[in-house]
Amino acid sequence: MTSIKSRKSDLLHVVITGASSGIGAACAEIFARSGHTLILGARRLDRLETLAPHLRSLGAADVWVGELDVTKLASIEQFQLESQSRFGGVDVLINNAGLAAGLDPVATGSDDDWEAMMNTNVLGLLKVSRAFLKGMIAANHGHIFNMGSIAGFHTYAKGAAYAGSKHAVRAISGALRQELTGTAIRISEIDPGMVETEFSLVRLGDQAKADEVYRGMTPLTAADVAECVYFAATRPPHVNIDHIVLMPTDQSSIGLVHRRPT
Ligand SMILES: NC(=O)c1ccc[n+]([C@@H]2O[C@H](COP(=O)([O-])OP(=O)(O)OC[C@H]3O[C@@H](n4cnc5c(N)ncnc54)[C@H](OP(=O)(O)O)[C@@H]3O)[C@@H](O)[C@H]2O)c1
Repeated sequence: MTSIKSRKSDLLHVVITGASSGIGAACAEIFARSGHTLILGARRLDRLETLAPHLRSLGAADVWVGELDVTKLASIEQFQLESQSRFGGVDVLINNAGLAAGLDPVATGSDDDWEAMMNTNVLGLLKVSRAFLKGMIAANHGHIFNMGSIAGFHTYAKGAAYAGSKHAVRAISGALRQELTGTAIRISEIDPGMVETEFSLVRLGDQAKADEVYRGMTPLTAADVAECVYFAATRPPHVNIDHIVLMPTDQSSIGLVHRRPT
């Protein structure tokens, strides 16, 4: 088993939740290009298995993929144990797994949608953090990234549960940073505006409706967000990037998007 202290400090063991798509997959690519080791989880294992050889070809030192459902404690514990037995310590945990489900006002909202968002974006993030924090605290080493959103700073009609879940992510990031004061563990939150991924397809369940979300504007790409994560992860150990908020130039707030005629 490799221990953190015996490894070269510039080669990281990076855990990414929700690495089968979008921002998580882009984070995996950027860390792969610099030769780091990737430990990737998501529910769609077939997607991760397709991604793994690509990441090795980009230069990843090692890639391990495992089925992970962050809404299920047993799945999280199994994933963490497997990661520990294969790689020992973890340097970077990217809590990226998340989703928006539906776009309904509270008056007609669905229990299934609310539970999916809260169980994934809030409780899943907490439980994955707890699972990996034990080793990080023992080693006095590690960096946790929480994928927030500008919906963690603002509210919008028909987005109560999603914005609520991302406000919770911001509260968790702040509390964690305070709990870990005096340790070497860093907590960073990345808060993007509109990013074109599978996010809107998952939310709306229809490709035409998802395409309409980005009509006439230039959204962020998943790679734009991954670059922010990578920047924060590669600062010297005495520097903690608390938050990075990044927006498409065409978007100045949740509801204010400049669209060109199409
Ligand atoms: N796109 C945006 O505009 C935007 C803006 C701000 C913040 N974000 C945040 O960015 C993060 C990534 O979203 P994305 O835009 O990259 O969307 P995406 O392309 O739909 O990717 C979401 C990822 O989360 C994973 N996931 C969902 N539920 C999961 C679960 N229960 N267990 C494990 N993995 C799960 C999915 O994998 P499986 O389905 O294979 O499990 C997928 O890999 C989310 O936290 C989202 O809230 C997105």
